Amino acid sequence: MRFLCVNCWHIYDEALWEIDDGIEPGTGIDEISQEVHCPSCDGSFEDFSVIEDEVIYAENMDKLTHIEREHMPRIIHLDMDKVEVCVGEEEEMHPSGEDHRVTAIYLIDDEGHIVEEVFIMMDEDPVAEFDISGLDDFEIRASCSQHGLWGTGLINVEEYHREHPEDDNEFEV
Ligand SMILES: [Fe+2]
Repeated sequence: MRFLCVNCWHIYDEALWEIDDGIEPGTGIDEISQEVHCPSCDGSFEDFSVIEDEVIYAENMDKLTHIEREHMPRIIHLDMDKVEVCVGEEEEMHPSGEDHRVTAIYLIDDEGHIVEEVFIMMDEDPVAEFDISGLDDFEIRASCSQHGLWGTGLINVEEYHREHPEDDNEFEV
């Protein structure tokens, strides 16, 4: 498992750890004392948040539940080179408080690899802009500090423009 220090955004991998105090790589998080601090910012280990690997997708995009509506990444604008996204609805984005917020938004390629990640600070709106030049398909994922990792599913750039001609200002057929 991987963990994010929500104070300084340093990422720790259980398989590597890189934490002082003689913690062996591969040691489970349950075996680590809560006294441990992030060596990068000295933040408390209790502030580490799990980076979820399992992605949650909406069951039915046309009939979202409340929690899906709150966590699903949405496209605000898409052209051939860049995509602007938010988490939740544009008029009512996901909360950004201390205990409950979106910690990161990711651009994922069609093989499931992270192309770019944007960390969201406390009190910042969960919005991000990514360079998608060279990608025919992509996915956006957003990680919530309480509710896991949410994904849009694969989006095909050409198909999106066919279905959303109003967002077509820089796309030439
Ligand atoms: Fe949430």
